[in-house]
Amino acid sequence: MNKGFTDLHSHILYETDDGSGSIEETVKMIKVLADSGFTASCATPHNIPGNDNGVLLSMSREKIRNIGEALAKQHLEYPVNTGAENYFDASLNIKSPDYFIPLGNSETFLVEIPFIGEISHHIDALHKTGLRCIIAHVERYMDIVQNTGKAVTLKQAGFMLQMNFGSLIGVYGSDIMKAAHVLLKNDLIDVIATDIHDIHHAEVILKKGMKRLETLVPPEKVTRVLRDTPSSILNSGYTTP
Ligand SMILES: [Fe+2]
Repeated sequence: MNKGFTDLHSHILYETDDGSGSIEETVKMIKVLADSGFTASCATPHNIPGNDNGVLLSMSREKIRNIGEALAKQHLEYPVNTGAENYFDASLNIKSPDYFIPLGNSETFLVEIPFIGEISHHIDALHKTGLRCIIAHVERYMDIVQNTGKAVTLKQAGFMLQMNFGSLIGVYGSDIMKAAHVLLKNDLIDVIATDIHDIHHAEVILKKGMKRLETLVPPEKVTRVLRDTPSSILNSGYTTP
């Protein structure tokens, strides 16, 4: 089922942090993604301070090549781009833009900030980097859960906002689910992504989340958050690792 969707946030890189446990599991996850309408993904392992991001990127490229070969043996083709879920915390005083790994060849960075506490000082510090950022699973930050209006401030500051499928069906709790629905209905979400970590996440959460999304918003909005915006973010396209 090719709907041209692009998944900008996933942990399909095998044997890497808390993501897929094996290349076989990754292949199964990709089959579910393809079955759900996705035609490309970014593999976004966690990039945290202290990581050597050159090592992370070269390991990602090698594993992406192996995934491509494993898929080819099954006569499947599914482009996987490099990327990272870049952790950012104002107190870490990260000044060098070299710390951040972009989504594919784009100049956009997926960024995760601390879940607990006031987000404004992290966001102010992130803004000062001047980088084009998409905030990962924005609905999961406690500050946003308590006041979804703060997402408007993030948008006004120039950040794009990404939501997880799991949030739509209550995987992270009912308060986060409520916040997710409000953000979506108020058109504050630019991109929805899977943030899948394993095959269960793909087979159950993605499929249920997709169904829920289709009941919450009209088809043109589904197309916008899953196909048009993510593919334009990744506009430099797929390149062979
Ligand atoms: Fe993630």
